[in-house]
Amino acid sequence: MTGETTKMVGKKVRLCGWVATRRDHGKLVFIDLRDRSGIIQVVGDKKLGDLRAEDVVEITGIVRKRPKDMVNPKIPTGEVEVEAKEVKIFARAKELPFPIDTEGLDINEDLRLKYRFLDLRRPRLVKNLELRHRIIKFIRDWLNERRFIEIETPILTKATPEGARDFIVPSRLQPGKFYALPQSPQQYKQLLMVAGFEKYYQIARCLRDEDLRADRQLEFTQLDLEMSFVKREDILDLVEKLMTDITQLFEKKIYKLPFPRVDYKEALKKYGDDKFDLREKKEPNILAFTFVVNQPLFEWKKSENRWDAMHHPFTSPNPEDISLLKTGKISQVRSWQYDLVCNGHEIAGGSIRITDPKLQEKVFEIMGHSKEQIKRKFGHLLKAFEYGVPPHGGIALGLDRLVAVFAGEESIREVIAFPVTSSGQTSVMDAPSEVDPEQLKELGLDVIKRKI
Ligand code: AMO
Repeated sequence: MTGETTKMVGKKVRLCGWVATRRDHGKLVFIDLRDRSGIIQVVGDKKLGDLRAEDVVEITGIVRKRPKDMVNPKIPTGEVEVEAKEVKIFARAKELPFPIDTEGLDINEDLRLKYRFLDLRRPRLVKNLELRHRIIKFIRDWLNERRFIEIETPILTKATPEGARDFIVPSRLQPGKFYALPQSPQQYKQLLMVAGFEKYYQIARCLRDEDLRADRQLEFTQLDLEMSFVKREDILDLVEKLMTDITQLFEKKIYKLPFPRVDYKEALKKYGDDKFDLREKKEPNILAFTFVVNQPLFEWKKSENRWDAMHHPFTSPNPEDISLLKTGKISQVRSWQYDLVCNGHEIAGGSIRITDPKLQEKVFEIMGHSKEQIKRKFGHLLKAFEYGVPPHGGIALGLDRLVAVFAGEESIREVIAFPVTSSGQTSVMDAPSEVDPEQLKELGLDVIKRKI
């Protein structure tokens, strides 16, 4: 790797990578060779003269210390260069559709995503994906040390009510029936608590058909976790410690410790929003983590003329307010939900769960489900709760948002390798796209084209 050359002065090396730039100085030709670790200057004769930007090459040569006046302090390998002895060209490259040695934020984003495999050569994006990798590795090690177990849950599943539209997948084996892709592993992680796993986590892919924004994708990644025999404070303490320890990996400071806990109603009154920014000025290196607590259990969904769960229907009401459920003062019932916000972004949401099947049924009823619908949609969970359910609760952190905050990026698309565009088109590959009539036939589907 080019990054190791500074320790190899006088030695013969074999370096593979891309030609970043080429400069001809008469007899001498210079190229900057780029690999994942960075760039190094290669100097040679006409052997290098034939190379063009982005050609993939192998250079064999000797590492030399650069003369003092030629040192380039801007790059980590700036004190050395490689004197090329042999050059092998693996592949030629066409002229790129846009420059990749800039930040790239001024380039049309659809074009960047169409050629994402080139856009990802951009040092800023390499850095972002490395940062994402480091954070995920840190989280895994941290939770593993505390005896959490990582368990995968299904992607082909049944509709999960997390407040967005489901993506559905037609079944070939059972024509006319559909799977839903998970909006989160919520019900599975609760079933894992019934099974007795006690401390679960998953770096989980979630899919939600919702309108896209800078901090929203159709598929995104959560650090999803759940614990049995815990109270709200146990989960908040765990998340606070994890965030504090991650922050120490970076040159960032936490605004206030312990993280302030703000009552939901007060947040609305004081900041006009439950996703607020405590910082006086938008200092990127200060992270103002805050827990928002005591959200109402239900909110009125005007478009559907019914009560809906503010977080999701598995969230426990505050026991002090359960009597209000019976007296019909629905809007006054507080929940055991909690959110984590940071610098104006909602980073995480979670809750202590309902474990009493009767109470769970009551919540579904308030949301407008009939007894028959409850059985059909959620019977599996209510049944599981009849076989010894531990008290449990959990939380899910939006990993893309968390990484974006640490990377100082405005959009989560800058920290995802292959995001969808703002209109939902996939990077590089042209999806969504039409499928073969044969495939539709096999699935027993007809597409009816009509104007929406
Ligand atoms: P919630 O729906 O609040 O909770 O999601 C948790 C966190 O996931 C992130 N997030 C998103 N990130 C990118 N794109 C999206 N479309 C998107 N939607 C959500 C946010 C959010 O705070 N099952 C519960 C968690 C639990 O109760 O344990 C859940 O999914 O950062």
